[in-house]
Amino acid sequence: HHVHVLSQLQDMFELSTSQLQRIVKQMLWDMNRGLEKDNEAIKMLPTHVCHLPKGTEAGSYLALDLGGTNFRVCVFTLDGKGGVETRQSKFMIADAVKTSEGAALFDFIADCVKQFFVDHQDTLSNGVNHKWKLGFCFSFPVNQVSINEGSLLVWTKGFTASNVVGENAVKLLQDAFTRKSLNIEVSALVNDTTGTLMSLAYSKPSTCAGMILGTGSNCAYIEKIENIIKYKGSREGISEMLINMEWGGFDDTHIVIPRTKYDYKLDSDTPTPGTWTFEQLISGLYLGEIVRIVLSDLADQGDLFENCGASPELKKKNAFETAYMSKIEIDNSHDLIKVKQILEVQLGIKHTTLIDRRIVKSVCALVGTRSARLAAAGVAAVVTKMNKLATPGCIVGIDGSLFELYPNYQNRMRSALVEMLGMCADNITLEQARDGSGQGAALIAALAEE
Ligand code: BG6
Ligand code: GLC
Repeated sequence: HHVHVLSQLQDMFELSTSQLQRIVKQMLWDMNRGLEKDNEAIKMLPTHVCHLPKGTEAGSYLALDLGGTNFRVCVFTLDGKGGVETRQSKFMIADAVKTSEGAALFDFIADCVKQFFVDHQDTLSNGVNHKWKLGFCFSFPVNQVSINEGSLLVWTKGFTASNVVGENAVKLLQDAFTRKSLNIEVSALVNDTTGTLMSLAYSKPSTCAGMILGTGSNCAYIEKIENIIKYKGSREGISEMLINMEWGGFDDTHIVIPRTKYDYKLDSDTPTPGTWTFEQLISGLYLGEIVRIVLSDLADQGDLFENCGASPELKKKNAFETAYMSKIEIDNSHDLIKVKQILEVQLGIKHTTLIDRRIVKSVCALVGTRSARLAAAGVAAVVTKMNKLATPGCIVGIDGSLFELYPNYQNRMRSALVEMLGMCADNITLEQARDGSGQGAALIAALAEE
């Protein structure tokens, strides 16, 4: 019976090589549509960043990083020779702030900036009263009209703060600085994928894409200006531009990726059902919740936890953290001791059998593997679009907790890439980037001054 349950789950969650190849094809098609017109599934947003850093950028810049697990305030001091000195403070951003009024969110940000200067007053040569320039890494879909102006198209990743959609994010931040008497000029507005690409390119010039596999998922890459048909700005002297794909919106109409009933359930409980469904299959904000929904359903069907039933905790939305999946997947002990502990302590499910625990581990592996294989399909589409398959040297910089911390994630991506691209996969390097977006935002602020 259990074998039957598992094989049903495999049928639902596993993606074959040929399915992945169809996904790549569809993504390429959608990328071209997004470059032609606004409001397509993959938005393909022009970033107004047209040059990679030269390594000679110099000066001290403030940077903010909003949209991952932590909110960060940083100062980057670029020495003009490729070196960087970093100071940063991290702040937890409470759900109440993410879902409050826009002005309250931006006031919170401004208060954190003030706190940053208190934290670092002993070591920074310039204090809060210096006329700072700031790079704002705002990791959401923004319709950018210049390097420091752009309106939020839609909130993602559980943010819902009111009166922000449709508004210029730079102005909202600048107004909060004024309210809090901060003398700071916001000179660049940057997505985390763009920032990741730029910061890695600062030390590794053959970086051609920046990707995030963390709370959310997305990718930016370098596109030829003539391919960006919808771009209305001046093209003079510009040969290429970074594109923020916003691939979280890919396949929202469910043409190509098989969805399970669990994915539909997850989607229906998000603030904007029917949108950003690709991100829901991949990113850290959602994977644990998919597992929880599967386990709770199996328990209701009598296929799991027969001795003890589902606990009230297992019925609570978001009670199963994606971090549990990591811990469960690395448990190779004979009795699955770690799995037992998590089920007991975190989820209040006592008296599990070894078979229960094996099923739980398999569900995590299925959901985690599907995510890694879809992320690899994204990589395959992007490097194909850039024509990087035939020659060695393309570096894809990847940041985010999933890529960094989830066991086997990188191997799973690699094997899917080899399945899809064969020998050509050797020409692509997936490189861990860390905390790059803030630094990238600072670099773009520096470039904006030139
Ligand atoms: C960080 C970047 O390193 O990675 C953020 O600076 C990005 O901008 C984040 O959003 C993604 O990771 P996570 O796992 O914190 O969402
Ligand atoms: C979400 C955001 C996108 C961001 C990604 C990773 O998909 O819409 O802008 O890059 O998360 O943080």
